[in-house]
Amino acid sequence: MKAAVLTEYNKVEWLDVEKPACKPREVLIQVCYGCICGSDQHIHKGEFHPRTKTPMIMGHEFGGLVVEVGEGVTGWEVGDKVAPDPIIWCGTCPACMKGHYPACTSLKLIGIDSDGGFAQFISLPPSMLYKVPSHIPDEHVALIEVLSIGCHAKNRANVKKGDSVVIWGSGKVGLCILEAVRTVTDNTVFMIDILENRLAIGPKYYENVITINASKENPVERIKAETNGKGVDIAFEAVGHAHEIEGLVNPVRGCIQSVCGGGTICVLGLGNEPAPVLFKELIWKEAKIVSSRVSHGEFAEAIEHLKNNRLKPEALISQKLHGSQTQLGFELLDENPAENIKILLDFRS
Ligand SMILES: NC(=O)c1ccc[n+]([C@@H]2O[C@H](COP(=O)([O-])OP(=O)(O)OC[C@H]3O[C@@H](n4cnc5c(N)ncnc54)[C@H](O)[C@@H]3O)[C@@H](O)[C@H]2O)c1
Ligand SMILES: [Zn+2]
Ligand SMILES: [Zn+2]
Repeated sequence: MKAAVLTEYNKVEWLDVEKPACKPREVLIQVCYGCICGSDQHIHKGEFHPRTKTPMIMGHEFGGLVVEVGEGVTGWEVGDKVAPDPIIWCGTCPACMKGHYPACTSLKLIGIDSDGGFAQFISLPPSMLYKVPSHIPDEHVALIEVLSIGCHAKNRANVKKGDSVVIWGSGKVGLCILEAVRTVTDNTVFMIDILENRLAIGPKYYENVITINASKENPVERIKAETNGKGVDIAFEAVGHAHEIEGLVNPVRGCIQSVCGGGTICVLGLGNEPAPVLFKELIWKEAKIVSSRVSHGEFAEAIEHLKNNRLKPEALISQKLHGSQTQLGFELLDENPAENIKILLDFRS
């Protein structure tokens, strides 16, 4: 079979590799579409080294069809549509013992810690798989992982009907949060970014979205003005760095300044530097900060929303490339983020 192999950092090659056998207690999946994630961009550049090794088949966002059912597997049939949850938690560390799997101290993902799904076939245990109704397009199945990250963030922040929201960062994760939030609340969502093209996506697909270009106006002042000085109920940080724009506070502190009394800030960005905040600004409001990491069973929620047309996956898709063009996909994302959100990779042939 063919696979997109990271042969050395910054270089993905379309190579012949051995097709995996369908092991006992596993099913063999023919991968239809995969999708490049921000973490993949870090891996591609070698920024997750030594966690990642080369050569490695990349990919933790993908979907496919069951083509073979291994010995001892029940409940799965050839032809089933499937979305693999790439997370492997240990089940025995203190966090896992508390049922808090995203905090597993030895959490691993296929496509990061071991070979992944940017290939024509992969064999996986049913415990990692979610069944997807057959009418959901294969392209959308590949987006279930990232949509479930948005759903998890929405659940961690406990977004309720009628809540107003700000999402700092209108990239891949920020837009998935918008989609998840809109399954719950129709109230105003403020989307913040510095790239006009990315800001344009939210209002194109959803009502009552106000965009703010942080390089042109002060988001906190605008949010206060639009909410009669009150601020929003929930703020999400999905930028991933704490660099300050001249005259503005960093995104996490901006979130704190944007919420109302008793509000919630949910942080997702995985920047490497500290993001300074003034706790007095949080304490005066008795606001709380929660974090959100990957997902925790929200695959089922995302599939249910897709089934009921409550999400707009097409809003995320910038373009489709063949699996053999995976390297080009990384280059497009790095060189032209304004034009590219999610790039789908076709592994069907
Ligand atoms: N916690 C999790 O589960 C989780 C999962 C996936 C990714 N992440 C992290 O979330 C972050 C965002 O990921 P992504 O894939 O959406 O990245 P992305 O690059 O697609 O999105 C980030 C957006 O922030 C914008 N931005 C940059 N500086 C800004 C500023 N000062 N103010 C406002 N907007 C600004 C960028 O233009 C971009 O559109 C990354 O750090 C990523 O590693 C976290
Ligand atoms: Zn991802
Ligand atoms: Zn664990």
